[in-house]
Amino acid sequence: MKKVSLTTLMKMKQENDKIACLTAYDASFAKLFDTCGIDMILIGDSLGMVLKGEDSTLGVTVDEIAYHVKSVKNGVERALIVADMPFMSYATPEQCYANASQLMASGANMVKVEGGTWLLESVRGLIERGIPVCGHLGLTPQSVNVFGGFKVQGRNAEKAEAMLTAAIELQEAGIQLLVLECVPTSLAKLISDKLSIPVIGIGAGPDTDGQILVMHDMFGISANYMPKFSKNYLLESSDISSSVDQFIKEVKSGAFPGPEHSFE
Ligand code: KIV
Ligand code: NA
Repeated sequence: MKKVSLTTLMKMKQENDKIACLTAYDASFAKLFDTCGIDMILIGDSLGMVLKGEDSTLGVTVDEIAYHVKSVKNGVERALIVADMPFMSYATPEQCYANASQLMASGANMVKVEGGTWLLESVRGLIERGIPVCGHLGLTPQSVNVFGGFKVQGRNAEKAEAMLTAAIELQEAGIQLLVLECVPTSLAKLISDKLSIPVIGIGAGPDTDGQILVMHDMFGISANYMPKFSKNYLLESSDISSSVDQFIKEVKSGAFPGPEHSFE
């Protein structure tokens, strides 16, 4: 099986072949997702919520992400492996380089950081040092206390403009993938059209270059609550494998996400 690379994902964007992504935290689920044909697997700091049952991602540590990266890596042959950098683990460029290198050494192919303009120096520095970076804009859960809750971002013209500017600046700094979380469909489309790199949406409508879901949400087993933008694929399937097949099929065809999973 040919390993998915950033070149593969770039080509998929150019050919309008939608990129299907899931989170995973262990080897068994990662292997199942990989075998089904998931293109990218994220070891998300969502593990603080879905594995540990906390009400935010803020308590997750670099060692915890590294532990789960090592497990996921052992199950994956094909998918690109992306590791989240936890809250405050990239507050300064020096902290960022040290912690990103731990995650890469654990088996990640790329690290993901939440935020815009303040991150540009760290993004440039990571890439110069050989570490590919995925950006994350919109509802960035590590900033939940600043936002005052898990709320859709970029709803007014000024905030939308600022998000587009940040996305372009991050691309110029060298990010090779961008996650957009909980943003209006029209803004996610605009950003996906303006950027040359692939944009992966979650709660961002159907027009991004790919979709990602938290695995516990797609099986309807999350400890806390089920976000509006997610879909329980087990309801329509008899087993886990066929529910993942169905998710991939609906991402590729554009059937998921529907308007009921999106924001306007
Ligand atoms: O932590 C996570 O699972 C994520 C995805 C929701 C994109 O960041
Ligand atoms: Na995350």
